[in-house]
Amino acid sequence: MIFVTGGAGFIGANFVLDWIEQTGEPVVNIDKLTYAGNLQNLSSLQGDARHRFVQADIGDSAVLAALLAEYRPRAVVNFAAESHVDRSIHGPEDFIQTNVVGTFRLLEAVRQYWQALNAPEKEVFRFLHVSTDEVYGTLAPSDPAFTEEHNYEPNSPYSASKAASDHLVRAWHHTYGLPVLTTNCSNNYGPLHFPEKLIPLMIVNALAGKPLPVYGDGMQVRDWLYVRDHCSAIRRVLEAGKLGDTYNVGGWNEKANIDIVRTVCGLLDEMRPREDGKSYAEQITYVTDRPGHDRRYAIDARKLERELGWKPAETFETGIRKTVQWYLDNPQWVANVQSGAYREWVQKQYAPQSGQAAAA
Ligand code: NAD
Ligand code: DAU
Repeated sequence: MIFVTGGAGFIGANFVLDWIEQTGEPVVNIDKLTYAGNLQNLSSLQGDARHRFVQADIGDSAVLAALLAEYRPRAVVNFAAESHVDRSIHGPEDFIQTNVVGTFRLLEAVRQYWQALNAPEKEVFRFLHVSTDEVYGTLAPSDPAFTEEHNYEPNSPYSASKAASDHLVRAWHHTYGLPVLTTNCSNNYGPLHFPEKLIPLMIVNALAGKPLPVYGDGMQVRDWLYVRDHCSAIRRVLEAGKLGDTYNVGGWNEKANIDIVRTVCGLLDEMRPREDGKSYAEQITYVTDRPGHDRRYAIDARKLERELGWKPAETFETGIRKTVQWYLDNPQWVANVQSGAYREWVQKQYAPQSGQAAAA
C-alpha cells in the first residue's frame, strides 16, 4: 500500500492509473480537490478496492497522522501542489500555503510515522517528492541543459514555492534521516491535462473556434515529456533511487511554444478539419507576455538513464498525436471541466467530506 497526494490532478491521476495497472498495489489517494482536482479522472477505478480516495489537505496534520496510522503505507508520493505559473503570478498565497506549508506538514507527519516504524519497515520506507525543472531558473539558447548540479534560481512565485519545498525535503533527509527521493521533471502533456495549460488550452480553444493566445513572441522553449513517461520514471526512482538524491526527468524534446501550437493546429487540420476548410493556425493570436517569463527550460536526464536505466516510451510525435486524439474522443470530460460540472459529479458519486475516506 502506498499513499499518493494530489492523485486527482493531471499527473497524479495518470500516476494512480498507471501504478495500479503496472503493479496492482493499492493506493490511498489524498487530495483536497481544488479546482484542479477531478475525480472523474479516476472513474475507471470506481468500485476497485485497490483505490481508496480521501478528500483532505496535505496541510492538515491531524488527518495525515490518522491516515498514516490507519493504513501504514510503505511509501508516500507527493504530487499535491498548486501548479499553474500564471495563477501564482496573480495570487501567490495558495502556492505558499500548499507547496511550502503543506509540504512541511506532510513531511512532519511522515517523519513521526516513519520514526515509530519497526526496523525492517523503516528500512524500506520511501518519501518521493515530485518537483519541477522550473526550480533551476531559465537558460540562454546556448546553455547546456539543467543537470542535478545546477543552482536553484527560481523566478516565479510557483517555482519559488516548489524550490522551497525541495529544500525542506532535502533538509528532512539530512537532519532527521527521512528516506527521501526528489524528481525534477520538465513540462508534461497528455490525457487529463487541465485546459489552463498550453497544450490542452490550444486544443480546446481551437475546436471551440476561439483565439489561440501565444504569449510574447512565442519563441520561449519548453522540454516536453508524455505524462505516462513521467509516471514510469517515478516508479523507477521509487524502486531503485539512491536515498537523498534528486533525479532530473525529461525526454530531450525541446520545442518553441509557437512550434507546439502549430503542431497542434496541423494535427487538428488532419484529424478534425475546420468546416470552412481553413487551418486552425488562423486562430493564433499573439498576446502580452507573462511577467518574468522564463525563456528556456531543458532537462539533462542522463543520470536517470545511466543509473536507473529509465527511457521514455513515447517520442513527441507519438505522444502529441495520442494527446490530440484523447481530447477529440473525450468532449464530455472537457465540457464538464469547463462548466464546473465535474464538481457536481463528484458530490453525487462520493459526497466527500473533509478527511472522510470514500472507495473509488
Ligand atoms: P494539477 O494542478 O493538475 O494537480 C494538483 C492536484 O493537487 C489537484 O488534484 C489538487 O486538488 C491537489 N491539491 C492541491 N492542493 C492540495 C492540498 N493542499 N492538499 C491536497 N491536495 C491538493 O498539477 P499537476 O500538473 O498534475 O502537477 C502535479 C505535481 O507535479 C506538482 O507537484 C507539480 O509541481 C509537479 N510537476 C508538474 C509538471 C507539469 O508539467 N504539469 C512538471 C513537473 C512537475
Ligand atoms: O516545466 C515544468 C512546469 O511546466 C511545471 O512545473 C508546471 O506545473 C507546469 O504548469 C508547466 O509550467 P509552464 O509555465 O511551462 O506551463 P504552461 O502550460 O502554463 O505554459 C507553457 C508555455 O506556454 C509557457 O512558456 C507559457 C506559454 N503559454 C501558456 C499559456 C497557458 C502561452 O504562450 N499561452 C498560453 O495561453
